Amino acid sequence: MSGAEKVRTAVLISGRGSNMASLIAAAQGDPAYPAAITLVVSNRPGAGGLARAAEAGVATDAVDHKAFPDRETFERALDARLRAAEIELVALAGFMRVLTPWFVTRWEGRLLNIHPSLLPAFRGVDTHARALAAGVAEHGCSVHYVTPELDAGPVIDRETVPVLPGDDAATLAERVLAREHVLYPRALAEAARRLRGGQS
Ligand code: GRF
Repeated sequence: MSGAEKVRTAVLISGRGSNMASLIAAAQGDPAYPAAITLVVSNRPGAGGLARAAEAGVATDAVDHKAFPDRETFERALDARLRAAEIELVALAGFMRVLTPWFVTRWEGRLLNIHPSLLPAFRGVDTHARALAAGVAEHGCSVHYVTPELDAGPVIDRETVPVLPGDDAATLAERVLAREHVLYPRALAEAARRLRGGQS
């Protein structure tokens, strides 16, 4: 696939960026991958993921939410940055800011998130502890389109892991994270193909 056909994708992060790294590796490692990661933006200037992205040769930027008086002006700056870079698809990867309906609607159908549970189960935070408390036999992760309702948008794809005897939230999170790194590149490719009007 030629560079011009690839879907220009930004990854938004707040932290270490292991999912971001898996997306960059997938996009750079396969000439036929339908998306190119052309920008990584963090709302935290010190996020470890920014250095990882720069090492991989991807443009990075920080839009520090603390520098803005309110959520909307922060989001307008973020939106302007994405549009200036001609971004077509946005992948949230450990981005720890809830986005307002204004931003979500503006990017509807072009905004993905990875969530560490088998949606629709365990929306919101502390998913691993809640899965253990509920006694489920299987847990996992989901990639979904973002809609104004938190973690409730259409699911693109999921990966499942077993819950094992003796698991705590940390061991379960580690098992799920390994599947996140497989799932997100697959789901982003799917979303990119849909955007180009290909098969779904
Ligand atoms: C992942 O567990 C993801 O599911 C959640 O935040 C975490 C991000 O980790 N949304 P990383 O920054 O991608 O390593």
